[in-house]
Amino acid sequence: MTKWNEGIVVENKQWTTTLHSLRVDAEIEAFEAGQFTRLALDIDGEEISRPFSLVNAPGERPLDFYFIEVPGGVLSAKLANLKAGDTIKIAPKASGLLTLKQLPPAKKLFLLATGTGIGPFLSIIKTSEIWQQFERVTLVHAVRYMEELTYQQTVRNIAENYTHQFSYIPMVSREPCDYAIPGRIPEAIMNNKLELRAGGRMDTDSHVMLCGNPDMVQDTMNVLTKRGLKKHSRRDPGHISIEKYW
Ligand SMILES: Cc1cc2nc3c(=O)[nH]c(=O)nc-3n(C[C@H](O)[C@H](O)[C@H](O)COP(=O)(O)OP(=O)(O)OC[C@H]3O[C@@H](n4cnc5c(N)ncnc54)[C@H](O)[C@@H]3O)c2cc1C
Ligand SMILES: NC(=O)c1ccc[n+]([C@@H]2O[C@H](COP(=O)([O-])OP(=O)(O)OC[C@H]3O[C@@H](n4cnc5c(N)ncnc54)[C@H](OP(=O)(O)O)[C@@H]3O)[C@@H](O)[C@H]2O)c1
Repeated sequence: MTKWNEGIVVENKQWTTTLHSLRVDAEIEAFEAGQFTRLALDIDGEEISRPFSLVNAPGERPLDFYFIEVPGGVLSAKLANLKAGDTIKIAPKASGLLTLKQLPPAKKLFLLATGTGIGPFLSIIKTSEIWQQFERVTLVHAVRYMEELTYQQTVRNIAENYTHQFSYIPMVSREPCDYAIPGRIPEAIMNNKLELRAGGRMDTDSHVMLCGNPDMVQDTMNVLTKRGLKKHSRRDPGHISIEKYW
């Protein structure tokens, strides 16, 4: 049985018809940037819970959860309707291995996300540790439409503070966009567009973190493995860490 704390919704920021950031005031235990916890609501007499990544850095409050209202989704549809002052259940203990502590030494860090999978990476780039651990950090946010390139102010703040260490690369797959790479992540690796903008190659001096759509994670792993990078685990160190959202 999960132990729950009560959270109070501070804000439900709606970015697009389906994308929201739920800001919650709640007590939770210390966590590492990149981890997730569980949110739950009682729906038709049943407690429904799902994992959600923490977008805020560990010391930052309120807690911030970036989510998409999935078509027909049981919990996300209810989360989308929450308003300031509503209550929500939150698991106080976060978990997950998509964290800096898990990574072996490398010079370059590539953070590749689709959709709401950017959440854990935003938490990570807000910490000071990442800028000491890596010479270069590239964040790729791949979305269908331009309006889904959210958290621009957060990215701008980082870009201003770490100009020479940080690259942000937007990708938009379903409409033309003059400042984004078109298409999907695996394709942009294969045709070198991604690395040209990043200013560095994804080689064995790199660590690549992948988060979001499970097909993107798999297809990208296939491309990277062909280049000699391998999946990382603590027992068998490699170059690729992943989190699939479904
Ligand atoms: C470790 C982990 C962390 C997660 N963190 C986040 C997060 O920060 N933000 C977030 O939006 N989701 C996140 N998810 C997904 C989230 O837990 C739920 O699965 C999602 O909100 C759908 O729940 P639901 O009850 O509305 O849908 P369900 O009724 O449970 O339907 C699930 C179906 O919705 C689709 N789906 C699930 N999640 C997504 C998604 N994010 N994008 C697109 N399609 C999806 C899949 O087809 C899946 O089979 C995470 C999942 C995992 C495993
Ligand atoms: N985003 C919306 O406007 C919207 C609207 C209604 C419902 N939804 C639903 O919401 C859920 C999440 O949507 P989302 O837009 O956040 O996430 P998504 O469907 O995962 O799309 C995000 C990005 O991932 C890309 N992608 C998909 N499969 C890939 C693969 N195998 N390899 C590499 N990249 C891949 C997409 O490219 P492609 O564009 O080429 O697929 C897109 O650029 C889905 O269930 C969707 O049906 C989304």
